[in-house]
Amino acid sequence: MDLQLQGKTALVLAASKGLGKACAMALAAEGANVVIGARNQDTLRAAADEINALGKGIAVPVPIDVREPEAAEKFIKTAIKHFGKIDILVNNAGGPPFGKFETFDDTAWAQAFELNLLSTVRFSRQVLPYMRTTGSGRIINIVSLSVKTYLENSVLSTSIRMGVVGMAKMLSNELGPDNITVNNVAPGLILTDRVKDTLPKTVDFEEALAQRAKDIPLKRIGRPEELAALVTFLASPLAGYITGATIQVDGGAVKGPY
Ligand SMILES: NC(=O)c1ccc[n+]([C@@H]2O[C@H](COP(=O)([O-])OP(=O)(O)OC[C@H]3O[C@@H](n4cnc5c(N)ncnc54)[C@H](OP(=O)(O)O)[C@@H]3O)[C@@H](O)[C@H]2O)c1
Repeated sequence: MDLQLQGKTALVLAASKGLGKACAMALAAEGANVVIGARNQDTLRAAADEINALGKGIAVPVPIDVREPEAAEKFIKTAIKHFGKIDILVNNAGGPPFGKFETFDDTAWAQAFELNLLSTVRFSRQVLPYMRTTGSGRIINIVSLSVKTYLENSVLSTSIRMGVVGMAKMLSNELGPDNITVNNVAPGLILTDRVKDTLPKTVDFEEALAQRAKDIPLKRIGRPEELAALVTFLASPLAGYITGATIQVDGGAVKGPY
């Protein structure tokens, strides 16, 4: 299937590894040019080299911390300088720490807000003039399965990402007349460094993966490219009638009928 992404410009945040990198690779493999951001310059440069080695869409790395107020402006300026337009924004960031409610003070809450909600607000707001000029746009937010089902120790992530889901619903209504769609993709358990770091070190790696997957109907942890496939479809013109949705990629882990 031709996803009609050739020559589109996609901004992908937090894309030096894990889910963001997989999204950038998948978009570039379809011919989109990608502007990728993360903090560590070496890892980011290596990701861009890997994407460029595909010989499809071009990857431009821009070192940024998504929490910084000026990050969006810097990123967008670079995208316009290189490609002259913006078609797609994939909002992503690192995740807040795991823990129980009483272990987090005001500072931890404020940091999670800046990392996972305010960054999404700033980037979304600042791409809109460019998407309106183009006459269409795609905003895709990476959230978490915890917006659909209980996930232990994820009070920061869940609370803040509910805000992202709410914002996306508002935006999908406000921006529908501009042909700009806004959707959320909710990863279940997908094997990235963030997840590897949470595996018990007392058993071997494969055993630890199997233990974590035992309650997942598909009996395995997902691969980043499986989430990226959905993001790439939502970014494409083929998904033009999907907006305001939150779709999980979770091997069936959400047990509710929604
Ligand atoms: N993997 C899963 O199963 C899963 C499940 C639910 C939700 N999620 C959420 O999905 C998102 C991505 O997770 P992941 O598993 O891909 O994590 P990961 O493998 O740890 O990758 C995180 C990426 O984000 C970048 N990053 C972190 N903080 C940043 C910042 N302040 N500014 C710019 N870039 C930043 C990192 O690069 P630098 O460190 O160099 O900046 C890296 O490229 C997270 O919000 C996570 O909570 C993941």
